[in-house]
Amino acid sequence: MNVGIIGASGIGKHHAKWFTLAGCKVTAFTGTTPERCAATAALLRDLCGFGGQTYLDYREMLEHEPLDIVCVCSPPEAHLNQIADALAAGRHVYAEKPVTWPPSDLLSCPLASCPNPRARSVFHPALHLLLEETRSALSFSGPVFGLNAQYVAAREAYRTLYEAERGALRHIESFYFLLESKGLSGRYSAFEGIWIDMAPHGLSQMIDWLPEGTLKPDTVTCDIGEETTSASFCYGDARIEMVCRKNVVSIPKRRFGVNDFWVDYEGRADENGVYRSFLTHNGKTVMIDDLMDVSVRRFLEAIRRPEIQPFVGPQQALENLELIMMILERGKRKTS
Ligand SMILES: NC(=O)c1ccc[n+]([C@@H]2O[C@H](COP(=O)([O-])OP(=O)(O)OC[C@H]3O[C@@H](n4cnc5c(N)ncnc54)[C@H](OP(=O)(O)O)[C@@H]3O)[C@@H](O)[C@H]2O)c1
Repeated sequence: MNVGIIGASGIGKHHAKWFTLAGCKVTAFTGTTPERCAATAALLRDLCGFGGQTYLDYREMLEHEPLDIVCVCSPPEAHLNQIADALAAGRHVYAEKPVTWPPSDLLSCPLASCPNPRARSVFHPALHLLLEETRSALSFSGPVFGLNAQYVAAREAYRTLYEAERGALRHIESFYFLLESKGLSGRYSAFEGIWIDMAPHGLSQMIDWLPEGTLKPDTVTCDIGEETTSASFCYGDARIEMVCRKNVVSIPKRRFGVNDFWVDYEGRADENGVYRSFLTHNGKTVMIDDLMDVSVRRFLEAIRRPEIQPFVGPQQALENLELIMMILERGKRKTS
């Protein structure tokens, strides 16, 4: 299958690598300037033998390239039109998380200080509109849509570790997710931005573990700090705690689990230089395929076999976005 990538110099180069290793061919990508395109083309040549076309406008790429799959790897505020146009052009779409977010000029104040005249569940007008536009873009039939919120791909390995120690996992009473990062520049590096950038990973795992769950809005507490945003709430019957932190100077921690059975996650190369995922609990470590590798292969499987769903499909992606919004809107900024 032919793959085109919208924005291939950041996480997009990992899409190029994993789709190529899964047997696809990256035949085109977009960049923002001719110079950036040339630099990324050289990078992809080394990474996955790229020898295709480059574009400055994704619409031209859609028009001229016989693509089967489009990866949307641009900044969140650019995602929605790109997803909608690629799906409308009949291409399968594998998009980065979060599925979308508004440009900053649409949000003139921290969400928690916005007025709530009609007390609706999503009350910031810009977010409400965006949610409806996303719902509309993703309600299609035909092409497959998947969101790259890859932590869901740890499910089976996690369950094996859990059940080896605790026995069958039948009921989920709690879910914990901690994600740290060394930090990024730009609008997603502080306050609400941390949550928007990092929470989709934890929320996607939570939705996967608790597919029947719904948010109990009155239970939400969310502290929005300059470097850490944390939230606790009830989702169905389960207690949820999520912590997202940026700008850490030590080795970033990534930890998750249900029923207080936590594993530490690490991504690194194995002894053969292949990038893998490692889950550790109580000093015992299991190595599994890289979570993005597994997610990409699942997406390709969903294209080939209609009975298979991507780990995070349209419905889960939409719920993920709605939860990001609803939890943030109930948050409080901490500026000390
Ligand atoms: N799943 C994960 O673990 C993970 C990890 C990191 C990022 N992400 C997500 O991936 C997305 C991109 O993040 P990133 O860190 O890769 O960002 P980045 O390094 O800034 O790369 C963005 C890419 O998009 C291109 N671009 C910039 N503005 C654009 C626009 N308006 N329209 C089309 N293309 C545009 C850039 O082109 P140039 O090449 O010309 O600069 C670049 O290739 C975000 O949604 C982010 O949350 C996910």
